Amino acid sequence: MLKLFKKDKENKEEIQLDFDNIPKHIAIIMDGNGRWAKQRKLPRSMGHKAGVETIRRILKEADRLGVKYITLYAFSTENWKRPKDEVDALMKLLVQYLTNEVEGLHQNGVILRILGDINALPGAVKEKICEAIDLTKNNKGIVLNVAFNYGGRNEIVRAIKNIVSDVESGNVNEENIDENLISNYLYTKDSPDPDLIIRPSGEQRISNFLLWQCAYSEFWYSNVNWPDFSESDLQKAIYDYQNRDRRFGGV
Ligand code: IPE
Ligand code: IPE
Ligand code: MG
Repeated sequence: MLKLFKKDKENKEEIQLDFDNIPKHIAIIMDGNGRWAKQRKLPRSMGHKAGVETIRRILKEADRLGVKYITLYAFSTENWKRPKDEVDALMKLLVQYLTNEVEGLHQNGVILRILGDINALPGAVKEKICEAIDLTKNNKGIVLNVAFNYGGRNEIVRAIKNIVSDVESGNVNEENIDENLISNYLYTKDSPDPDLIIRPSGEQRISNFLLWQCAYSEFWYSNVNWPDFSESDLQKAIYDYQNRDRRFGGV
């Protein structure tokens, strides 16, 4: 068993990660960008910009630790309720992120996927997304799922509609509808369920994220806002995860 020994600066605890028990899939609700900006008397958009820097660091660290799938909640189906300026800034930031990062992601073998309804996004955003997905689809490295215009309930409604339509056209036999089939109609069909869901910023709610998939996920919360979320916070989350007893309903 490989072990990582690390001094944690704040409480001087030693973190020993078990490299044989790294969560295969980590999902993160990237929250607290607005509060981070407010604390610094900056516009909220600066918080979102700072949050992109965190993505860079955390993706690299997750990959280094051996995580195979990382899902980042970037824009929910409810986030359209925000002022138009902020929504526009978030769209622009995604385009910028893809423009600046896709080549680097590709070089590092990252497979980029989007979870959510991209057809409802502005044309330029959709175009960038499709380019990035296409460029990285045959890579062999970590899978980066970006949940954008994603909502868990919306995902389930969409799945039901598609199943009904496939039953009607005779492609699916009603008797074959089971949990596995439903999973295959979700945006996450090519990823395993998340082992660990992380939410920074002090909020302890799911906010319509991966409702079906989180059935047996472990949850980890932190008071740190996403722009300040560090590699050592990720390690702490994994360390906690490794010290839990996942029973899946058994004894
Ligand atoms: C998360 O940060 C980013 C998105 C939801 C797009 P927030 O913008 O929700 O930040 P807070 O919760 O207001 O601090
Ligand atoms: C959840 O954060 C969505 C994303 C991080 C993209 P929100 O900030 O939108 O969630 P609520 O409104 O606090 O539940
Ligand atoms: Mg928030």
